[in-house]
Amino acid sequence: PVPRPLAGKRVLITAGPTHEPIDPVRYIANRSSGKQGFAIAAAAQAAGAEVILVSGPVDLSDPQGVTVKHVESARQMLEQVRAALPADIAIFAAAVADWRVANEGEQKLKKTSAGMPPLQLVENPDILATIAKLTDQRPPLVIGFAAETEHLIDNAKSKLARKGCDWIVANDVSPATGVMGGDRNTVHLISRKSGEKDGELAVDSWPAMTKEQVAIELVAHIAK
Ligand code: C5P
Repeated sequence: PVPRPLAGKRVLITAGPTHEPIDPVRYIANRSSGKQGFAIAAAAQAAGAEVILVSGPVDLSDPQGVTVKHVESARQMLEQVRAALPADIAIFAAAVADWRVANEGEQKLKKTSAGMPPLQLVENPDILATIAKLTDQRPPLVIGFAAETEHLIDNAKSKLARKGCDWIVANDVSPATGVMGGDRNTVHLISRKSGEKDGELAVDSWPAMTKEQVAIELVAHIAK
């Protein structure tokens, strides 16, 4: 028999970028491919979990046996995440846009002699922090990602504290690493040593591997 260590567990995962509309034909986006989040969804499903994947716009096909909710913007992503609760484990792998356009054009913006269109940005909700700080429906294990281009471990540690999650998967996304959009990833798993709220942080650095292997290792850690 195939081992199914996550049988009976409900796992919620976010993946991909978000698209924030500027007008009916334009948007703000980022270079996230969704590959890491989709690989985690597939690995959790293979481990026997019931998986709900909330994904921004990506070029990937839905993983077998996973419930996928397709969204575009950060606000839509938060709405689908809330609707998917309760969950036993929540993994936030999406590269959510930090800002959206406040004055979204109802019609396509035109070039005018008056100069550049005045785009006003407002902050998007932080989906991970929102869910990690819920008092009623907080999943028992909340995992965030930290994609950084400098001071990786320090930034990831402060992110864990600031957002209130239990673990952070930190990865270096400097262009030279090829992680953004690529097939491989080098990650550091940051967690509280004692499992207590204010416990000391442990850093577990994994060797470079494929995003599928990162997903399988992460699921194995969750199962433990
Ligand atoms: O973008 P940032 O480095 O803050 O992302 C860290 C973590 O927070 C990631 O797990 C990401 O999915 C999550 N996040 C989120 N909603 C946001 C911004 C980030 O869920 N608006």
